Amino acid sequence: MATDIVILAAGKGTRMKSSLPKVLHCLAGRPLLQHVVDAARTVDDASILVVTGHGAEQVRLSVRGDNLRYIEQTDQLGTAHAVLQAAPLLHSNGITLILYGDVPLISAETIAQMLHKVSDRSMSLLTVLLADPAGYGRIVRDENGLVEAIVEQKDASEAQLQISEVNTGVLALPSKCLQEWLPQIGNENAQGEYYLTDIISIARSAGFRVETLHPESAEEVEGVNNRLQLNNLERYYQRRQAAKLMAEGNTLADSARVDVRGTLQTGTDNFIDINAIFEGDVVLGSNIKIGPNCLIINSAIGDGVEIKANSVIEESQIGKNAVIGPFARLRSGTVLADEVKVGNFVETKKVNVGKGSKINHLSYVGDAELGENVNVGAGTITCNYDGVNKHKTTIGDNAFIGSNTALVAPVTVGNNATVGAGSTINKDVPDNELGLTRATQRIISDWKRPSKKG
Ligand code: UD1
Ligand code: CA
Repeated sequence: MATDIVILAAGKGTRMKSSLPKVLHCLAGRPLLQHVVDAARTVDDASILVVTGHGAEQVRLSVRGDNLRYIEQTDQLGTAHAVLQAAPLLHSNGITLILYGDVPLISAETIAQMLHKVSDRSMSLLTVLLADPAGYGRIVRDENGLVEAIVEQKDASEAQLQISEVNTGVLALPSKCLQEWLPQIGNENAQGEYYLTDIISIARSAGFRVETLHPESAEEVEGVNNRLQLNNLERYYQRRQAAKLMAEGNTLADSARVDVRGTLQTGTDNFIDINAIFEGDVVLGSNIKIGPNCLIINSAIGDGVEIKANSVIEESQIGKNAVIGPFARLRSGTVLADEVKVGNFVETKKVNVGKGSKINHLSYVGDAELGENVNVGAGTITCNYDGVNKHKTTIGDNAFIGSNTALVAPVTVGNNATVGAGSTINKDVPDNELGLTRATQRIISDWKRPSKKG
């Protein structure tokens, strides 16, 4: 059956005190709305309709996905009015699920269960029991315990305010019912808004059963209205990521000081020290040690690698048993074979480094191809940029590059070749030869250091 998922995201989010639309604020590096869209996309063949209002254009440009369409709600007249904007686009023979752009942690399982409970005589409603239900719509049940209505805080009687079961806002029902019932909702209430929650009493009058469901945790249905709530959800999310990493066989120095902003796949027996940040898609093998304060973005790291403190690794691939850092910066397109060493204050970019090669200190190596067992001395720079174009440096197996060498690309240093320290190499060095551009040292015996005048 066709499934339509309508995500309400028109609100301004005044309490965020931000020029950015609320649903574009990030949780774990992804906009809130993107989390909801990604959860919605777990439903096979669902069409996703996002109702935008404030910052509609910016929202449209920032959040993407297959089968995703945007509808604008120019004036925000209430949740029923928001869904009404999407109503003409729904597949009348299917089911519609309503989600919220500022409730980011809704799970795929809950969504599946919500859809599962809908039939042509029943709708589903996600509710939660809260110790402090203030502000939420209360779930009113009849003497048989069946849901009768939802009453908003501002419209509730003293007795209704005591009810601790509240509406999360998430509901699902046959699309044709939604299309038929929405226009019946009025705005005669304390807020003068069109309440989607009125759909419940309409459904009841039509002989529908309202099936309720609880989320696995209250955080799953928590909305973000201000930055404190955003941070609370971020920390909840990160605690769960940390628990997952540990369950998968990784040791964390401090489970409160690791952040995963994307997907992190791991083998086992990795040790992750404090303040590690993983962004985008990162894959770790097994038996890896990651030192303190490392940032790893969209990279794959092989078994047995050691990444020492304060290293930044972006869009790189690192072979087995390599040793990186401390203070190394691997930029995009860095591909290191097994057992490579990249030491402190080394920057690499778009480079292939063969097995066992070493770039141990203070170097910039970019647009380069290095063979196996190359030794790059301290202070070596590949001069890859002539101010307009980038050029390549090629270094053969077993080559030895002396310290403080400038390799002016395009240039090739052959297999087994040597470059003397302090050279500026702008012509190829053949296999097995020594390239040297250093001026001959002179000794000046009668030279005196200047002395202070006056
Ligand atoms: C709503 C529910 C309430 C529930 C609570 C859960 C109604 C009438 N009430 O109340 O029962 O307990 O959510 O958080 O539905 N939105 C639009 N267009 C609009 C109005 C709202 O897109 O015209 C969006 C908002 O951006 C927000 C969501 O819908 O993401 C909920 O709207 P909000 O005004 O916050 O509803 P609540 O008063 O919190
Ligand atoms: Ca709200």
